[in-house]
Amino acid sequence: MWISLVIVPITGISSIIYFKYCNKAFLRIENAESKMTTIIQENVNSARVVRAFANEKYEFEKMDKASVDFSNKSRKFSTVMAFFWGFNDGMTFIQYALTLLVGIYLAKQGILDGADIVAALLLMGMLIWPMRGLGRIIASFGKASVAANRIDELLVQTSEFEINGSLTPKIEGNIEFKNVSFKFNDTNKSLLNNVSFKIKKGQTIALVGKTGSGKSTICNILTRFLEYDEGSILIDGVELKDIEKKYLRENIKYVLQDPFLFSKTVYENIAISNSNTSKENVYQAAIIAAIHSEVLKFDKGYDTIVGEKGTTLSGGQKQRVAIARMLVTESPVIIFDDSLSALDTKTDVLIRKALKLKDDNQTMIIITHRTTTAKEADLILVLEDGAIAQVGSHEELVNMDGLYKNLWGIQGELYDDFNSLLDSEVNK
Ligand SMILES: Nc1ncnc2c1ncn2[C@@H]1O[C@H](COP(=O)(O)OP(=O)(O)OP(=O)(O)O)[C@@H](O)[C@H]1O
Ligand SMILES: [Mg+2]
Repeated sequence: MWISLVIVPITGISSIIYFKYCNKAFLRIENAESKMTTIIQENVNSARVVRAFANEKYEFEKMDKASVDFSNKSRKFSTVMAFFWGFNDGMTFIQYALTLLVGIYLAKQGILDGADIVAALLLMGMLIWPMRGLGRIIASFGKASVAANRIDELLVQTSEFEINGSLTPKIEGNIEFKNVSFKFNDTNKSLLNNVSFKIKKGQTIALVGKTGSGKSTICNILTRFLEYDEGSILIDGVELKDIEKKYLRENIKYVLQDPFLFSKTVYENIAISNSNTSKENVYQAAIIAAIHSEVLKFDKGYDTIVGEKGTTLSGGQKQRVAIARMLVTESPVIIFDDSLSALDTKTDVLIRKALKLKDDNQTMIIITHRTTTAKEADLILVLEDGAIAQVGSHEELVNMDGLYKNLWGIQGELYDDFNSLLDSEVNK
């Protein structure tokens, strides 16, 4: 009778080989699929960019290549799967046939009778079908283990709140950077070296510097989206690392360089930081951000749905909705990361004046490439080569050789031309 079990190890070994193959094949297929879905996602999101550069052919080919690759890998796997199960089925029937043949032979010899053969076949069924079931489970297990590994890649990421502070001191807006250095993990060179500056409560600071000089990075450090490596940052005398992140971000509001609007109404987009806020509060924020009258001109006013990624609004409108959103809740420190860049100079001035009127005690950090905006600040910080190269008021810096004087030289002449015109417009 043992003869009839001779096939079992063959099935077992082939299942193990198949399991190993499954693991690798699933990984390859998953990678090809994720490549393909990334391309689809990018192309759908940036359809306008693709059209603007007349890049359709290239993108079609790229998509074609990725989908053919995915389909080839899936098809190859399906073929192997078909062979494996076909082979397995074949083996099962060979096993039955072998048992039957041996049974008949032994019956002829008078060693077994009919009942023994039937019993043997039934018993073999009880062994074979669970074995086949095991094979299927092993194959599914291969797929599950690949998926589990991919989920694990996400789960092992540590929560940003694992490194958190516990203090919730009263924040008034005095900020001091003392020899702060910072380096991104994937680079060797420090981006910021011994950055030191002091901001007093209620001051308006302009942070100026070439693109890529680290202006946004400084603000990301201040809001603890990034952790500084060396040095010390004091907020009203308390070390930044000791302050609870959530509390810190409630007190230091940051209008990002590239604001993101949700596919909701304008009202909901503004009220997002405080859904219990009053209508008056939202309108007030929108008035300060100089967007209220424009929203009212929309057919549905504040109920206008902002399209996918805010495409129904212009760049400047999006920036102003993002500013209004930040103004819905009070905060002692606000950061504008190039948030006024898409606005015309008049609106830029109007917003800054309205902000000053609203709260004179608020510390404002304005990152800007526009010297006319920087000029109005109490203090200008010029970031160059990873350090603060110049600090001072506009009057001091225009009389000092350096980046600011050069910038002013280029932009300032234009400013002088516009200046009188602008003043009369703003005061209207
Ligand atoms: N996650 C990151 N990993 C590695 N390098 C980064 C990362 N984020 C930014 N950088 C690099 O750090 C430098 C500073 O970036 P940052 O965004 O602070 O510049 P910026 O002064 O705000 O420039 P811009 O005026 O163009 O907004 C850039 O060279 C940028 O490429
Ligand atoms: Mg930036």
